[in-house]
Amino acid sequence: MTHVVFAVPFAMDATLRFVQAACRLRAEGLRLGVLSQDPIERFPPELRGEFDAFHRVPDAMDASQLTEGVRQLARALGGRVDRLIGILEPLQEALAEVRERLDLPGMRPEAAHRFRDKALMKDVLRSNGLPCARHRLCTNAEDAFAFGRESGYPVVVKPPAGAGARNTFRVDGERELAGYLRTMPPSPGDPVLLEEFLFGREFSFDTVTLDGRHLLHSVTEYAPTPLEVMQTPWIQWAVVLPRDISGPEYAPIHEAGARALDVLGMDTGITHMEWFRRDDGTIAISEVAARPPGAQFTTLLGYAHDMDFYEAWVRLVAMDRFEVPERRWAAGAAFLRAQGEGRVQGIRGLEEAQAEIGDLVVEAKLPQAGQPKASSYEGEGYVILRDEDTDRVRGGLQRVVSLLCVDLEQGGAP
Ligand SMILES: Nc1ncnc2c1ncn2[C@@H]1O[C@H](COP(=O)(O)OP(=O)(O)O)[C@@H](O)[C@H]1O
Ligand SMILES: [Mg+2]
Repeated sequence: MTHVVFAVPFAMDATLRFVQAACRLRAEGLRLGVLSQDPIERFPPELRGEFDAFHRVPDAMDASQLTEGVRQLARALGGRVDRLIGILEPLQEALAEVRERLDLPGMRPEAAHRFRDKALMKDVLRSNGLPCARHRLCTNAEDAFAFGRESGYPVVVKPPAGAGARNTFRVDGERELAGYLRTMPPSPGDPVLLEEFLFGREFSFDTVTLDGRHLLHSVTEYAPTPLEVMQTPWIQWAVVLPRDISGPEYAPIHEAGARALDVLGMDTGITHMEWFRRDDGTIAISEVAARPPGAQFTTLLGYAHDMDFYEAWVRLVAMDRFEVPERRWAAGAAFLRAQGEGRVQGIRGLEEAQAEIGDLVVEAKLPQAGQPKASSYEGEGYVILRDEDTDRVRGGLQRVVSLLCVDLEQGGAP
């Protein structure tokens, strides 16, 4: 029996898919305690019926409250907790802190901090000879202007521990930088990260690591970059996991990506790295998260390898088990995103899309009438395609984004 506490601060869909997987693994001897700041009623009834124990704390991002919560759950689970796990990116440092306090296995605070602080992460990568963008963490406007002059424009400005490309911008010159610094003035307590702007194509590099051994890696092509999607309202994001990633074009990230995880201190888990290939072929690592990827990537990993990656993650971090699968398919997702303001009224182009590429569709979540417009580049819904032929998936996704159109009720209640 493995006694696992899953920290789920909020009962959000993205996290619940992992919680569902944990519930299914009760059949393999897992006992599950759930720690949340949401009341248990927020969890779907069929799911909460599977929890062996549940405990609510006022603030599930706070290490002290989490520690006390794990102690309570240990009592409810018959005296002990073996693992503390969680998906949410901003939670990772608090989880590491609790593990240290309670002497539980898993990532500890120093490593968790290197994966959360994008400036420190780049310091560590660069000092180990790994390629990444030039950067400076700036606590005042003068530092930021000096970086712009030394590095040259464009630069990227971002919060040092942001997510979802929020408050992340390309800045093309000094005047634009001055505007940004006026709206988001940096201070010692609230610094801003400036980076050299990387031109080229963006990808992810996702791995499964067990006891420091990288057992599996996956590459995802982004089209276009999340930053371009955020800044261009009519663009819909698409991502592709090519079937064959053994070619020389991916050799540099395979080598650098694995070494980056080593120097950052990855022990056991699924990781999500983002990187660029510049037009001259050189690569740069952009950021790394010590958690499974979001945005349907975990679902896509499952389709590419014919296995349930949600369960694979739980088995890995709760039971130290992972069976390396074969990559049999190309898979990809198009994210459906409405333009303008208001609520979703409907979606056009479904029949045509169905006729053209319906045979490639393995999963879809279509935007529903009345749904509020999404604020992220993941939009209001998605379509997942799979085929043995990577180019068919690439082409199919382009058809999805050109044929499907999400309409909003203009002027409707926000
Ligand atoms: N140095 C850079 N050069 C070019 N684009 C960048 C750079 N840093 C970030 N971006 C773009 O901004 C997006 C969000 O930045 P990222 O550091 O990944 O933050 P987040 O944690 O919000 O995902 C990236 O996916 C990429 O498209
Ligand atoms: Mg990112």
